[in-house]
Amino acid sequence: MIVDGVHQRTVVRDGAVVDLIDQPLLPHAFRRVRLHTVEETASAISDMIVRGAGAIGATAAAGMAQAALLGERDVLAALDAGAARLRRTRPTAQNLFYAIDAVLDAARRADVADRLEAALGAADAVIDGDAAACERIGHVGAELLADGMRVATHCNAGWLAFVDWGSALAPVYRAVRQGKRVSVWVDETRPRGQGARLTAWELEQEGVAHHVIADNALASRMRAGDVDVVITGADRIAANGDVANKIGTYAVALCARAHGIPFYVAAPASTFDPGTPDGEGIPIEERSAEEVAYTWGLDDDGVFRRVRTTRSPCRNPAFDVTPAGLVAGWITERGLFRSPGEAGWPGLTDRR
Ligand code: MRU
Repeated sequence: MIVDGVHQRTVVRDGAVVDLIDQPLLPHAFRRVRLHTVEETASAISDMIVRGAGAIGATAAAGMAQAALLGERDVLAALDAGAARLRRTRPTAQNLFYAIDAVLDAARRADVADRLEAALGAADAVIDGDAAACERIGHVGAELLADGMRVATHCNAGWLAFVDWGSALAPVYRAVRQGKRVSVWVDETRPRGQGARLTAWELEQEGVAHHVIADNALASRMRAGDVDVVITGADRIAANGDVANKIGTYAVALCARAHGIPFYVAAPASTFDPGTPDGEGIPIEERSAEEVAYTWGLDDDGVFRRVRTTRSPCRNPAFDVTPAGLVAGWITERGLFRSPGEAGWPGLTDRR
């Protein structure tokens, strides 16, 4: 990803320091933040300084490396403690658990003397692997995009949600690099506004034509014939292909089906959860009601402010589940899957 002409990765491990983009400041300010303890790293995930399934996984991997490097006890004990803390941050994103388990497994398999190196190597492999998988997803997904296509997406599954490239937006970035004119409908994605704040900012940085629309405006755009294809990301994909993604995704998928518009989901292998048979088993995070009751941003004097928009009690489920039957295809680094296979997802979940 290029920000103001400089290549940036969303998550960087710098020894025992985790270096992140401070996402709540966007699109108003671009700042990186450096985290020095596992506690700081876990809080950054919970508080959504870093968010998006792949970026959460990469941050957890870097947090595990931090635990191994800073731990005063033996490496496995330090990793177990770090894992326990990091697992309590965001329950829905499968990439979080994938990353923690990858580092733990590597350390457990290694001889005692090699455990630290094994843990650090596994953490870096998760981080670099995320960027490589997303780059590949871009190539696979760009095949679905013809010149002039109008794409709709929901939330942010771009490079801010991963280490680089993104999932749902990677095909757009690749298609644009291939010379195709592709434009994007970006819905706001209440309550936290990842579409309006993050996706729109990314597309601006990449020079991709886009419009932000209110969440309740996408159905009429579809009915008007202004949307050719929908691509979203995923936070967890069950064995049967049911997709947990940002709240509101299910409504977008239903609308797409009603208007005969293909609805694709883009995600790396680390988002697939072969251990959960269907969407019923996916834990859905309920976040603070304050995220619904308040919004925040820059006022006309350039001051960050939080303002209350309702006085009523609120509920804030952060994700919903879109049944596999509404998905036209799953775009992965291993190619485009049109349905979950009898024996799982060949090449994706059978390598675990
Ligand atoms: O709550 P968030 O911002 O961490 O939610 C994640 C998302 O941005 C979306 O659900 C996204 O489509 C999947 S993450 C690649």
